Amino acid sequence: MIKTSDKKEKDYSIYFQPPSLVDAKKRGKAEVEVRYESAIPPELRTFGEGKFYMIRTYGCQMNEHDTEVMKGLLEEMGYQSTEDKQQADVILLNTCAIRENAEDKVFGELGHLKHLKLEKPSLVLGVCGCMSQEESVVNRIMQKHAFVDMIFGTHNIHRLPELLRESFFSKEMVVEVWSKEGDIIENLPKKREGIKAWVNIMYGCDKFCTYCIVPYTRGKERSRMPQDVIAEVRELARQGFKEITLLGQNVNAYGKDLDGLDYRFGDLMDDLNKIDIPRLRFTTSHPRDFDDHLIEVLAKRGNLVEHIHLPVQSGSTEVLKRMSRKYNREQYLELVGKIKAAIPDVVLTTDIIVGFPGETDEQFEDTMSLVQAVEFDSAYTFIYSPREGTPAAGMEDNVPPEVKKARLHRLNEALNEISFKRNRELQGQVIELLVEGESKNNPEMLSGRSRTNKLVHFEGGQHLIGQFVQVKIVDTLTWYLKGELIEESAQVQAG
Ligand code: SAH
Ligand code: SF4
Ligand code: F3S
Repeated sequence: MIKTSDKKEKDYSIYFQPPSLVDAKKRGKAEVEVRYESAIPPELRTFGEGKFYMIRTYGCQMNEHDTEVMKGLLEEMGYQSTEDKQQADVILLNTCAIRENAEDKVFGELGHLKHLKLEKPSLVLGVCGCMSQEESVVNRIMQKHAFVDMIFGTHNIHRLPELLRESFFSKEMVVEVWSKEGDIIENLPKKREGIKAWVNIMYGCDKFCTYCIVPYTRGKERSRMPQDVIAEVRELARQGFKEITLLGQNVNAYGKDLDGLDYRFGDLMDDLNKIDIPRLRFTTSHPRDFDDHLIEVLAKRGNLVEHIHLPVQSGSTEVLKRMSRKYNREQYLELVGKIKAAIPDVVLTTDIIVGFPGETDEQFEDTMSLVQAVEFDSAYTFIYSPREGTPAAGMEDNVPPEVKKARLHRLNEALNEISFKRNRELQGQVIELLVEGESKNNPEMLSGRSRTNKLVHFEGGQHLIGQFVQVKIVDTLTWYLKGELIEESAQVQAG
């Protein structure tokens, strides 16, 4: 356990609640309470004055958004943000556990931060996010990275102010990781920047796909109350945000847990469709819960964009069964057919895992043929990575690593060809872009995104940043498009 010279000695009881994957799996009937109180006790509102914080974020949008909440909490305590490690008084690593390489990155970073901690013992170093929900990770940090000051879990984010105080006054590592999800805490401050905002509509996941750690690290599905989501979106529209992405691990399950309310994701989208925010996206949809009502609502368009991220994971019915995805190849293709019929210009993107334990050549070919049949505009592809405590980690895996790599390579080649072909179909079309900023590789150019989330570079003045413009597509590549501005600032109204 770390002892640092400048921490005042005080008799605070040490929080020590290590996580347990087994406990995390126990889904009780216990009611989830929605709490609206403030997370920052008055005496902590000046705690960070004159001090700086830095947060490193790994993983998905859920984590990015959790970082915005932590930034909000820290700034309400008086802390200021910095990008300079040397200047930081608090450094937090908001981690991801989805695959082994995500975890390796964090352990690598901890190695670097050790030197910083030795130079500056007053630095508070914290590990949070999905990795901190894993027993094995917490044990490893406690044994091998004892210079870490605090570990807190995904259900403990609202406790950050208290835990910082605890850590500041204690000589030992502060560990607070609840295995089971707590309540839904509304009204937490959030530090949002730019023109796009994330809004959680639900937390957790109950799907338990056999390869996936998320249901353990994020707890059971809990939906926010519709009125709280709607109020937040309205407020963001009022503040001038142009695009909102609704977040959940399985947004289509929204509302299922709201006892006594017959209100699902389609109903929520229908209500949000009436709000004056130009664009609304959502991620991630699970094919199993994607119902006809939702398709009907999405076909109303307006602020509901023509892009659906619909992870398929595999094109083989047998593999899907072993993954416990709860749909088969035919059902997925049928759903895609329904969506395309209702929204003919829809852009579909997906996630695919290759080399799941026991995946045969033939089963992999089923994935290859499915991507050809659907014609995804793009996809995130991964080699299966065993996660301790998940059912798939115990399955016999007889697929050699070289075979997995070769499959990934072939799949990516095929997907790139499809992306190229799909993009080429846009040649000559006029599309609406939300201008995000200067192009990363060429500051002479601006970059924007279409409603379907395609990246487009074009020449234009800086005053267009944050605006909607119309461009004509003049060149198409695999990863991005080039456009020509045809109309200055054509602000769209949600309709
Ligand atoms: N809730 C989302 C997925 C979140 S994780 C959904 O169900 O679609 C993002 C992606 O990571 C998954 O879609 C899956 O393709 C991939 N993934 C999850 N666990 C993995 C593992 N153990 N190995 C490799 N890829 C994994
Ligand atoms: Fe993981 Fe499946 Fe839940 Fe997605 S739906 S988070 S892949 S368990
Ligand atoms: Fe990673 Fe946790 Fe997201 S495991 S992908 S950060 S929910």
